[in-house]
Amino acid sequence: MDSIIVKGNGPLNGQIPIAGAKNACLTLMPATLLSDEPLTLTNAPRLSDIKTMSALLQSLGCEVSQLQGGQVLVMSSHDLNNHVADYDIVRKMRASILVLGPMLARDGHAVVSLPGGCAIGARPVDLHLKVLEAMGAELELKEGYVHAKAPGGLKGGTFEFPVVSVGATENALMAATLAKGATVLKNAAREPEIVDLAVCLRRMGAQIEGDGTDTITIQGVDRLGGATHPVVTDRIELGTYMLAPAICGGEVECLGGRIDLLGAFCEKLDAAGIEVAETDKGLKVARRNGRVSAVDVTTEPFPGFPTDLQAQMMALMCTAQGTSVLEEKIFENRFMHAPELMRMGAEIDVQGGTATVTGVERLKGAPVMATDLRASVSLILAGLAAEGETIVNRVYHLDRGYERVEEKLGNVGAHIERVSGQ
Ligand code: UD1
Repeated sequence: MDSIIVKGNGPLNGQIPIAGAKNACLTLMPATLLSDEPLTLTNAPRLSDIKTMSALLQSLGCEVSQLQGGQVLVMSSHDLNNHVADYDIVRKMRASILVLGPMLARDGHAVVSLPGGCAIGARPVDLHLKVLEAMGAELELKEGYVHAKAPGGLKGGTFEFPVVSVGATENALMAATLAKGATVLKNAAREPEIVDLAVCLRRMGAQIEGDGTDTITIQGVDRLGGATHPVVTDRIELGTYMLAPAICGGEVECLGGRIDLLGAFCEKLDAAGIEVAETDKGLKVARRNGRVSAVDVTTEPFPGFPTDLQAQMMALMCTAQGTSVLEEKIFENRFMHAPELMRMGAEIDVQGGTATVTGVERLKGAPVMATDLRASVSLILAGLAAEGETIVNRVYHLDRGYERVEEKLGNVGAHIERVSGQ
């Protein structure tokens, strides 16, 4: 298994290109199942999760071609010949559940393995199932698989989500495009990835209004056609790289960055004393003097502070002046990076879903273990701010969500290298 070695750094300077969003791409890809015409995605990120979704779609009979080194994905679901999403693929990636709604909507039947738990919490899929049931699906759970049927097709209706779920909103949105009549989704997720999905579905001929608000209305149509769609910028990769100059000092321009994708994250950077300016090409981020100020953070659905940037923000707060309180409200077990950061000299007290971080002047390099995707990158950020060498082990999680991390950070002056494992 590969490791990443980071040596404590001075200021970073230069430009970092931000890729297309992993989480948007993972929901745009299953949208191909809604049509028998090709769907082409441009600006796709080159990540192992995208390969996993390609493998899942191929197992269902989709043709998936990767062009331009994987930045363009051309998919065709003309000849779907299998409606079973196998456990062996689904267990690798929870987003696999996103094939359920589209397959059911188009062909009236689908069998999808339940994804099971994951490192950051139990993460059930009950809401995905409930909203499809509300649309008339008949579901049965057998041997770890959901067997779904909608013989006469799905039907529109009104469904109010009891909690905001990105994935369940995406599954329902895709399914509703081919349902009979109108579907109204209330308390829907407002994430930029939902808006990106709606834009793509409209390009395919869907009738959708209200995406980006908490009420989305979809008027079902008989069929969807093909489309070409550029994947929206990855706001989590963007936020992660914005934190690099925040933690090391210097000035970095994140190419393709947009303020409107960041919600509360930008306000927190401002409160911490980080300068963020819009440029022609993206966002310029600078920390010019002294330590950052401690700020409190509570994770919430968009436009609140994203849970996917909590670990990285904690790394920054480890060296801030003062004490910050980080509350994790989305996932119940998402502080696994805290004990690793403490091995680097951070002062963190975790009580349930709350972590209290007292900033120290300097972290110290240490061997640490990556436990999940965002935790991995938080340890790299911490390593950039630490004295001496940090070895981040088990970085395979990282490759699920960050393309060429060592190259992107190396180009702005970070001392970082990947060491191949046995
Ligand atoms: C997506 C993102 C993930 C991000 C998360 C929250 C993808 C591929 N992943 O995950 O990176 O951290 O949004 O922004 O886009 N819940 C239920 N029942 C359900 C579904 C969810 O109780 O059926 C709960 C979850 O356990 C969690 C909360 O709802 O506590 C939000 O989860 P959700 O928004 O669904 O996350 P994902 O779509 O899985």
